[in-house]
Amino acid sequence: MRQFDHHRPNPARMYDYMLGGKDNFAVDRQAIDQLAELIPEAVPLARANRAFLQRAVRYVARAGVDQFLDLGSGLPTQGSAHEVAPRARVVYVDSDPVVAAHAAILLRRSPGMARFIHADLLDPVNVLTRAGEFLDLDRPIGVLLVSILHFLPDSADPQGAVARLRELMAPGGFLVISHATTLGHLEDEERARGFYGGPSASGGTDRTPGQIREFFGGWPLEPPGLVQATDWRPDRPKLVGDWSLPSSLMAGTGKKP
Ligand SMILES: C[S@@+](CC[C@H](N)C(=O)[O-])C[C@H]1O[C@@H](n2cnc3c(N)ncnc32)[C@H](O)[C@@H]1O
Repeated sequence: MRQFDHHRPNPARMYDYMLGGKDNFAVDRQAIDQLAELIPEAVPLARANRAFLQRAVRYVARAGVDQFLDLGSGLPTQGSAHEVAPRARVVYVDSDPVVAAHAAILLRRSPGMARFIHADLLDPVNVLTRAGEFLDLDRPIGVLLVSILHFLPDSADPQGAVARLRELMAPGGFLVISHATTLGHLEDEERARGFYGGPSASGGTDRTPGQIREFFGGWPLEPPGLVQATDWRPDRPKLVGDWSLPSSLMAGTGKKP
């Protein structure tokens, strides 16, 4: 069965290993060890992304939202939304059959506040219809699109799918996004444009800060806006001489008026 193939690395299990999890096999660990030799910042960047997700979930929960929809969730482990906001209801969505097979097992450990849906986020009406069996969509929800949109090329129209999601969400809901960009500084946008259109460093579709901002539609962004993931409401101030990550992952949170 494909989902229990121990011999082929799987991206979700590889990601779990990068985050320090134990839901992975030797073949996944070998793949990441090789990747880390080639791209030393890959693992710190994955962890910085996950730390952003956790800070954003806490922020949205503190704002009074008690239900989350995590799109492109990966394996629901290693500080996932239902672990960070244990009083919230959470629906995880992923299109990978390996994630689907493992998620069902993993969520049995949690006390009934989380569900998993095996679906494509590019079909938001299907996703919301199914999520609506567990979440009350007439009330605000927090929608997480964390480190996923850069895997979706413009030809798949992620912009259209996210616009539909925004339309269907109740006012007061939050959209949480992190996204790869080759240059993380807004002032570099003009310079960045020259890089797009060709293959990106991440192997996905890196977008300019302006293109990432468009995923929020006209919604206002919560302070500090769209910034490097490590700079989004950090838990502690930066220390002088702190090693900083390359500016390749931008993050922000918008609220539906
Ligand atoms: C890098 S992981 C991100 C995990 C998590 N969101 C995080 O940031 O920690 C990306 C996940 O998106 C999933 N994915 C890719 N395309 C998808 C799609 N069209 N619909 C749903 N999930 C998708 C992949 O299977 C993978 O598990």
